[in-house]
Amino acid sequence: MITVQDLSLNFGERTLFKDVNLKFSPGNCYGVIGANGAGKSTFLKILSNQIESFKGEVFVSPNLRISILRQDHNIFNDFTVLDAIVFGNKKLYNVMKEKDFLYEKKDFTDEDGMRISDLESKFAELGGWEAESEAAKLLKGLGLNENLLKTKMNTLSGPEKVKILLSQALFGIPDIILMDEPTNHLDVDAINWLEEFIINYPGIIIVVSHDRHFLNQVCTHIVDIDYTQIKMYVGNYEFWYESSLLMQRTKKQQNKKTEEKIKSLKKFIERFSANKSQSKQATSRKRLLEKLTVEEMPASSRRYPFIIFKMKRELGKDILRIKSLTKTIDGEKVLDNLNFTMSNGDKIAFLSENEFSVTALFEILALKIKPDKGSFKWGVSASRSYFPKDNSEFFKDSNINILDWMRKYSKDPAESYIRSLLGRMLFSNNEVFKSIKILSGGEKVRCMLSRMMLYEANVLILDQPTNHLDLESITALNKGLINFKGNVLFSSHDREFVKTIATKKIKL
Ligand SMILES: Nc1ncnc2c1ncn2[C@@H]1O[C@H](COP(=O)(O)OP(=O)(O)O)[C@@H](O)[C@H]1O
Ligand SMILES: [Mg+2]
Repeated sequence: MITVQDLSLNFGERTLFKDVNLKFSPGNCYGVIGANGAGKSTFLKILSNQIESFKGEVFVSPNLRISILRQDHNIFNDFTVLDAIVFGNKKLYNVMKEKDFLYEKKDFTDEDGMRISDLESKFAELGGWEAESEAAKLLKGLGLNENLLKTKMNTLSGPEKVKILLSQALFGIPDIILMDEPTNHLDVDAINWLEEFIINYPGIIIVVSHDRHFLNQVCTHIVDIDYTQIKMYVGNYEFWYESSLLMQRTKKQQNKKTEEKIKSLKKFIERFSANKSQSKQATSRKRLLEKLTVEEMPASSRRYPFIIFKMKRELGKDILRIKSLTKTIDGEKVLDNLNFTMSNGDKIAFLSENEFSVTALFEILALKIKPDKGSFKWGVSASRSYFPKDNSEFFKDSNINILDWMRKYSKDPAESYIRSLLGRMLFSNNEVFKSIKILSGGEKVRCMLSRMMLYEANVLILDQPTNHLDLESITALNKGLINFKGNVLFSSHDREFVKTIATKKIKL
């Protein structure tokens, strides 16, 4: 058990946390979410004793071993892989090293002999005899060859080092595991393995992640860091998102009867506990949800973007035909004899080892570049709107504010109309007067999406729209595209996004 009492932390002028109270219990996996800079990494550092300059108390039950997924890929460069993994259990590591040292000693004394027998029994007690086979098992699970155990860390590639550090964090079944962004740089098979590991793990896991699919698979609780507050909610990310949105909406509609609200929330809980799979974790989640009462539903103060794509006209039957499309860029063939036909209702995800292939296809379809060979034909009813991966040309020249930028693309120049468009993407009050030159990556994407909503096209082409967006915006865009009645061609690194929107996948 970890108990956090009246935790407050200031960095200079800035208050990061104020009077936070939380409890973490075994058997649960806590997903920590929050905007960039909200304090997620700092919170994990406080829990793991790496930051001590806070007010309040953090109690960890005695004798519990905390293990951390390290971010610095190079600190173990001089270690063998086996040593680096065993280092995850520092006690065992120290015993092992001292033992090795004594056995190699030339002038071995009686005292050393006594010490050795002491160390041997400690070694056995700490699971030393199983260490190598456990390390091998971890490697295998993560898709690495167990022959690597004796090699030096500095001979490994970046992605391999990431897996070794993950093995180190999981080694020896610690009581508490803290992980900051564990799915970054991991391949899908390794992520699946990690998800399974977490689901079956009996201790406390606290994990920071931007990967919605991962959070939905493993979390029993969501820990939301928002403006100095940290609040904990039962359920996975999807549940947190939907229920907090619903609570916000019902709070606003004061005229509605309370009973009606309770009814809709209850239905919601039923739907969520019913449609999960049969896994062990799903059953425990179901138990958690059954205990949820309406009063405990989250009412986060977060603001959510609202994304809705309408279409001015319906699509006919003939939408897009592509024949033998071929393109070479800088000597590399990015499209090779591509053929497909798009039918009404298709939402196609394009996957490729080479991102430039998808970008080239979309640029051809948006008439930005020409194919070397082959042809494509848009149907007469198809009106297109294109979201490029690189949007810099939209923001480079003028020094105008967001409002005027948006006005350039709108038929209706009225400020109230444009404000309503921007408001949906969370640009409100004075924010619309920000110069487009100083916008962050995420803010630019939000501008581009507002512009796209304005066009009311019936075919949307989106090249990596989830890059730079926070979790709440990705979820809102995800919903907007699921609900969209027209056709979509898109690419994204977000697994949940691809899984829930695509009706077809095409590998380039
Ligand atoms: N040692 C420090 N001193 C001062 N400010 C810090 C320190 N560490 C982090 N910060 C700031 O605190 C905020 C939270 O950082 P961090 O916990 O890394 O955020 P997150 O992981 O949620 O993106 C950021 O604004 C960061 O710049
Ligand atoms: Mg961080």
